[in-house]
Amino acid sequence: MSEKKRKILVTSALPYANGPIHIGHLVEYIQTDIWVRFQRLRGHQVIYIGADDAHGTPIMIKAESENITPEQLIAQINTEHQSDFQRFYISFDNYYSTHSPENKELSETIYNRAKENDNIEKRTIKQAFDDVKKMFLPDRMIRGICPKCKAEDQYGDNCENCGSTYAPTELIEPRSTLSDSTPILKESEHYFFDLPAYEDFLKEWTKQPKLLQKEIRNKLEEWFSTGLQQWDISRDAPYFGFAIPDTDNQKYFYVWVDAPIGYFASFKNYCQNNPNLNIDFEQWINADSDTEMHHFIGKDIIYFHSLFWPAMLKAANFRLPTQIHAHGFLTVNGQKMSKSKGTFIRAKTWLEHLDPEPLRYTFASRLNARVEDLDLDLEEFEQKFNGDVVGKVVNIASRCSGFLQRFFDNKLCALDEQGEQLLTTCLSIQDTIANHYENKEYAMAVREIMNIADQVNQYVNHYQPWKIAKQIESKNDPKLATLQAILSACIHSFYSLIIYLQPILPNLTKTSQNYLNIKNISWDNLQSPILPTDHQLNLFSPLTERLKKEDINTMIEAEKS
Ligand code: 2FM
Ligand code: ZN
Repeated sequence: MSEKKRKILVTSALPYANGPIHIGHLVEYIQTDIWVRFQRLRGHQVIYIGADDAHGTPIMIKAESENITPEQLIAQINTEHQSDFQRFYISFDNYYSTHSPENKELSETIYNRAKENDNIEKRTIKQAFDDVKKMFLPDRMIRGICPKCKAEDQYGDNCENCGSTYAPTELIEPRSTLSDSTPILKESEHYFFDLPAYEDFLKEWTKQPKLLQKEIRNKLEEWFSTGLQQWDISRDAPYFGFAIPDTDNQKYFYVWVDAPIGYFASFKNYCQNNPNLNIDFEQWINADSDTEMHHFIGKDIIYFHSLFWPAMLKAANFRLPTQIHAHGFLTVNGQKMSKSKGTFIRAKTWLEHLDPEPLRYTFASRLNARVEDLDLDLEEFEQKFNGDVVGKVVNIASRCSGFLQRFFDNKLCALDEQGEQLLTTCLSIQDTIANHYENKEYAMAVREIMNIADQVNQYVNHYQPWKIAKQIESKNDPKLATLQAILSACIHSFYSLIIYLQPILPNLTKTSQNYLNIKNISWDNLQSPILPTDHQLNLFSPLTERLKKEDINTMIEAEKS
């Protein structure tokens, strides 16, 4: 690889610590993980950071309803999240929590620097207050009749029936979801971050060609055209979060202030826990850092990542993101995930019934670089995984393995001319596939890989090793050499496919490496010939399992409520 070794910090959005990971979340973690694994395979230094987003009113309320402290709740959820991620092969280098000493310190630093720049203002505002619970209510905790379409039981900020957005004060017959009482309006002093002061900077910064997708850029133009507003960064006690310095614990940072700072905090924690790696945290986060920082996010949190977060970083004189990668939402069978239909599938339930890799493969085969929703069609999902991964890729190894063992003690030989040609075809697409991975065009990468798998299978069909095997009469039969050369070409080609697929299917790669008797793989291995002439394979055992329709159905039934 002639490319310079890059230093890349990668993040996925931090999931809230009040609920389980579901397949909707997994779109993002799988998308990120594929990118991360690809970069590692190319030999770059990648640090993939995660954490739970542990603050905010909903977490405080949930802990209260379970009669535990928020700290207990977030510890429990953190364990569950980490287990789900690990079992889906999401390869975080560090998984932490935003409720951490590192995050508290970094949040205070950023806030204090913004304050020194005169970017923080105090203002008294009126807000909905639950006089029974004695607390201010987030918009989501107020429900009432939509002022536009009159639909009942709608949120305080938007109507799910007609899609309109409004202020909670506009709701008809509003009530608190906490006590069912009618909220009153109460005054309170709030802290605002002066986002408009960064408007010119943001307009310039977001023009960089590779930073944002076209759809995000369009969104930003819309936001810039209506003008940026001061951002309310404080919340009143009681609140689960970090107290704003010098407010006597009466005011807390709004969860969205310390959430992205949690990326840095988790990274800092990683550096501290791994002194042997000699990663200079300050050097990675300094404004003039020569490292990269990539954020993978859902389309609903673009505003936070492309406006608030860079403005905060700029205010504090820290480095800015290199690229923001936004994706769309998941639908299942063409519809929004639904608990009653059993399609709101939790990661844990999935793992009780199915392997994680078919989901990774299916998402990969549907993901591109656009901010588009993607669908998991459960029927097609089964056919696609079984047809492509089992029927095309694994099939190559299983078609060859018996003959290799029976006649050649699992040893390969040098390739003949046709074999060389086949392998050259397999290797010729490596740059195309690398570009697709780099650009998050995974669906295109999958198509290229499967096209190659088809060609290898056609090669097997054409040379019909089973027929040659039948004709072999003695140990000195010259057809043996022909047979071994055919099988060797297929195994070399299979190996190249496995390297291409490693970012998507790390476990299949592991079981295949085991069979191929290869310890470490990297993109650099895609040089011809890719295996030594007399390389010996291990005994073949099944590399992956077929998906069964009944397991998918049982999983859906288990999720129905
Ligand atoms: O939308 C969410 O689920 C947030 N918890 C994401 C936070 S991402 C980052 F900024 F921390
Ligand atoms: Zn409505």
